[in-house]
Amino acid sequence: MRDIPKLELHLHLEGAAPPGFIRAKAAQKGLDLSRIFDGAGGYAYRDFYEFLRIYEAACTVLTTPQDFHDLTLAVLEHSASEGVIYSEAFLSPDFCGGGDLEAWRDYLAAIEAAAEQARAESGIILRGCVTCIRHFGPEQARRIARCAQETAGDFITGFGLAGDETMLHPSDFAYAFDAAREAGLGLTAHAGEWGGPDSVRETLRDLRVSRIGHGVRAIEDPALVAHLAETGVVLEVCPGSNIALGLYPSLAAHPIDRLHQAGVKLTVSTDDPPFFHTSMTREYQALADRFGWEAPAFETLAQTALGAAFCDPETRRALAKRLEAK
Ligand code: ADE
Ligand code: ZN
Repeated sequence: MRDIPKLELHLHLEGAAPPGFIRAKAAQKGLDLSRIFDGAGGYAYRDFYEFLRIYEAACTVLTTPQDFHDLTLAVLEHSASEGVIYSEAFLSPDFCGGGDLEAWRDYLAAIEAAAEQARAESGIILRGCVTCIRHFGPEQARRIARCAQETAGDFITGFGLAGDETMLHPSDFAYAFDAAREAGLGLTAHAGEWGGPDSVRETLRDLRVSRIGHGVRAIEDPALVAHLAETGVVLEVCPGSNIALGLYPSLAAHPIDRLHQAGVKLTVSTDDPPFFHTSMTREYQALADRFGWEAPAFETLAQTALGAAFCDPETRRALAKRLEAK
């Protein structure tokens, strides 16, 4: 499982910070973050809202471009060790200078330098998807979209929306998404995680995204499932995340296999792996164990991710070659 080449399209950079990494940064800076950890040293939360709070608390130790350089390197080394050859990470200017464009440029330069180092060491390729956070509101999302617009290029290739799906409406973020679309960025938004089928429909209608983060609750509406299959919208499915956050009690109850059977285009990702005690290899192994997925299903996942990746044609060709070589 580890050796299967994987493309991961849904990974929050800060959400991939191992608890030990955050603890070490906190100790260096004399910050007490013990409240966000459990007795075993992992992240402690009981539900999605607490998860968002401790996620944001963990981010308070990431105060400099060097912190993001170190984080990027640690995350990519780990991803490469899991067989990931291409990773698209959600990058949040909110946690990199609060949405200030000049600060964001400095953080981004540090992230890109680390990505280049990781590529030279293990061959893993990183692209960034600038992400606004829904519960920080539409005004702040506009500032984040400006950061995306101004830094769009070879490395920043996408724009996304994460955060609390139960707040506000996709249309509140249409301005930010229009700006990102005009800048040539690929578009994705979290939906159909804490919101139902209507949230997915509104997101497709108002933000005109080609991919949906999660999207799994589309299963509650057969007409929507058929629409997704027909139009080829790609879902970034993160089963371990959905189970850890209590959306489904188990993988057996998770709709991923039913969505696959219905012809919906799927990819598999880890979202915030240390928070959910998961990894790409564990996700793949669980799908094999629970649903009997075998090599062809994992090849399809990689080909779907390759087609849906927000990268330039040359990178896509290079990745295709690496998949063929396996
Ligand atoms: N940010 C990080 N992980 C998230 C998730 N699963 N849903 C919404 N926002 C997030
Ligand atoms: Zn996510």
